[in-house]
Amino acid sequence: MELFTVLVAGFVCTVVLGFLFALKRNQYWADRGIHQYKPLPFFGDMLPVLLRRKTLGEHLMEMCRAHPDEKVIGFYFFMKPSLVINDLELLEKVLIKDFSHFADRGPQPKNVVHMNLFSTTGNLWRAIRNRFSPMFTTGKLRFMFPQISGLGEDFMNLLRTKREKVDMVDYFGKFATEVIGVTAFGLEGRAMEENSEFREKAKKIFEPSFSNYVKFVLGPSLMKLLGVPPTNNEMLYYFGPAVKNAMKYRRENGVVRHDFIQHMVTLQQKGTIEVDKDDVSDEILMMDHVPEMKVEMSDNLMIGQSMGFMVAGFDATALTMGWLCYELAMHPEIQSKARQEVKEVLEKHGNRLDYDTVREMKFLSTCLKENGRLHSALDVNFRMVTKPYKVPDTSAVLERGSFVYIPNLSIHMDPKYYPEPEKFLPDRWIVENTDKSSCKYLPFGTGPRMCIAMRFANMEMMCAIAKLLLNFEVSIHPSTKLPPRIEPYSFFTYPRDKLYFNLKKLNA
Ligand code: HEM
Repeated sequence: MELFTVLVAGFVCTVVLGFLFALKRNQYWADRGIHQYKPLPFFGDMLPVLLRRKTLGEHLMEMCRAHPDEKVIGFYFFMKPSLVINDLELLEKVLIKDFSHFADRGPQPKNVVHMNLFSTTGNLWRAIRNRFSPMFTTGKLRFMFPQISGLGEDFMNLLRTKREKVDMVDYFGKFATEVIGVTAFGLEGRAMEENSEFREKAKKIFEPSFSNYVKFVLGPSLMKLLGVPPTNNEMLYYFGPAVKNAMKYRRENGVVRHDFIQHMVTLQQKGTIEVDKDDVSDEILMMDHVPEMKVEMSDNLMIGQSMGFMVAGFDATALTMGWLCYELAMHPEIQSKARQEVKEVLEKHGNRLDYDTVREMKFLSTCLKENGRLHSALDVNFRMVTKPYKVPDTSAVLERGSFVYIPNLSIHMDPKYYPEPEKFLPDRWIVENTDKSSCKYLPFGTGPRMCIAMRFANMEMMCAIAKLLLNFEVSIHPSTKLPPRIEPYSFFTYPRDKLYFNLKKLNA
């Protein structure tokens, strides 16, 4: 009985102390003179997201709309004080001008195979980014195009086999996985096969689910503390050997191709990277003085980069194409205009679809741009504070390791920047835009840490959508729930209910 009383008293004390701690925690921003939203103990401001009522992006947009005059708004990501930036000038500082204070996304993973470009920090990130950027030059992309276009043809053949009630996000996922599989893993012809193991493994990485959401909520620091690897180990065992074998095969057989694997083989042949002095060509990265450091271009580091391309790349590409398909289906007149343009450009160039002819499809590219605004694959982005930062016009100093959030959705849906923001209006991009603020349009992020593969992704999407328009007329299947909502438990802007389409074959 006595033991029972002690246990109950202990439990009650723990609950009371925990509660008091949570209340105190929720004063963090108020104590620093920063306007804060409406935190609850333990849940902070996250209850609506946890209850699946809205996405984090929608929630941050609500905060920004409720306080239009606050440049920053404090909120609580559960117990973690975080800040949402509600001012483009300050955002420009965070993402570009004061980059060295916000250079990372989280703590550096320990194991080298988890050190991909997305997750690495500081000098290691800087060194890898510098060496991987040349993969995406116009010359390299031009060479890659025929391979992507060939995969696009296989994709059209796959679509010919199923034309009713097609889950296009899933089908674009097969195509995008195949593209990454071929270019970054040297694995050919796997993802578009029926019951493809490769596709199933890749799909699991960011599949919207409660468990994936919990991992995201835990955040990198807690995940590290609890030993949850940032990249699923099962994926690693599956994909790792593929990269290793592909690189070995190329080295031993002198096979040369125009893809990411080839670039990695070349980097290995060039040997260790020495990061020992400030590099003038690297000014844009704006890192502070760099201490001496050597980066071994090991197989594991390369596997990490391939995994990173998979993690960062295929979901976002597939989803963006899925949403564009949705907009084209909802706006048949825009779909016809885009199809007409594709036909005219091809006729002009003897039916040649290549890097340069795709770039002539101006109207299609405005459709893609407008789609990126309305349906960014990430409706929220974030940065970790890497050096203490005094928030301008306040007395608050952001501590190292805290997080700031970029409300992509709120910016993209702001009528100040985009009149009638809820409408799909590709023509808004035809008018010469004199406002050069890069922080108004963020589907690929901006600044030194923006998507390294933006041009590659745009090329891939233009190629696939041009082929789709030539081959099929796309319409919404009646079973699709309209208007679509976004899944709050997803890292990316996946639709909560599937988007189904009918495809009518055209005489290409
Ligand atoms: C439509 C397709 C894509 C979208 C919308 C997209 C979007 C993004 C965004 C928003 C970021 C974060 C940028 C920031 O924090 O400022 C990012 C980073 C990144 N993306 Fe993409 N991405 C796409 C395709 C790809 C593809 C195909 C690849 C690989 C081949 C890729 C590789 C990466 C990498 C490695 C990073 C991290 C860059 C760094 O931290 O230096 N992305 N992407």
